[in-house]
Amino acid sequence: MTDSLLLRRLPVAARVGIGGLTLVLLGGLLASGAYLKDHHEKRDGEEGLSMTDLEGAYHGVRTTAPLVVALERGHPEGLSEADRKTLSDWLASDRISEDYDNLDLGDSAPVEILDMSCLECHARSASDVVARELPLEYWDDVKKLAFSREIEPTDTKVLLASTHAHSLALSVQALMLALLALLTRFSRGFISKVIGVAGVSLAVDIAGWWLARGSAAWVPALVAGGMLFSLTNAILAVLILLDLVLPEKE
Ligand code: HEC
Repeated sequence: MTDSLLLRRLPVAARVGIGGLTLVLLGGLLASGAYLKDHHEKRDGEEGLSMTDLEGAYHGVRTTAPLVVALERGHPEGLSEADRKTLSDWLASDRISEDYDNLDLGDSAPVEILDMSCLECHARSASDVVARELPLEYWDDVKKLAFSREIEPTDTKVLLASTHAHSLALSVQALMLALLALLTRFSRGFISKVIGVAGVSLAVDIAGWWLARGSAAWVPALVAGGMLFSLTNAILAVLILLDLVLPEKE
């Protein structure tokens, strides 16, 4: 390789420019990490980015309301079959909030059954130390346990737009970083391995977006692919910056 192509032999203006662009790219990597967290974390209705959020976004998730689970497993033992059926039908309906304390339903309004059959254990002042941690006294308590969720995966049109934008931008970004990193003074063997991982991980990530729709098993693979891709790009960017600022050894 002609020495004049080495990064540290470039004219100062080119080194400053490449340094600035590489810094912006590193900032962009951080921002996209933060954006992804923000974008996905509320999907399962709980704070924080969880595997359920990501599985929801890429594959779709169904969760069953805890109240339904409890009733179906025969809890509590003393509940009459009629009351159990009333509660199950209510939870399966699309009027969960409307009918909770619907006066027209009289004694078979869910709130009445919960009062009669659950609050002896599931009230904050109850003596059952386990059950009182899961109060069912107010609508605000009940609504957290009453809804089964269905998280639809991202619409295919949106996914297609995202694939088109990301596959072109990210591949070119990594190609540029790869070329520049190969022009640094650092070990080609090491840089080659980092580039190898970057290429495979991006391919797995983006293919995974589509494959995960069919099989949720791809979700961890695409998450790992995305993280490895960002990590390898960050490593290449840092090596480039180091090469630009470190003094040349004679
Ligand atoms: C005799 C006390 C008692 C009564 C009455 C009772 N529970 Fe519970 N419940 C518990 C205890 C103790 C737990 C935690 C241990 C367990 O899961 O069995 C619990 C757990 C639950 C859970 C957590 C999920 C699950 O399946 O474990 C839900 C939901 C629940 N109860 C709903 C209800 C509802 C609805 C009623 C009334 C229809 C009710 N409980 C009546 C004692 C009670």
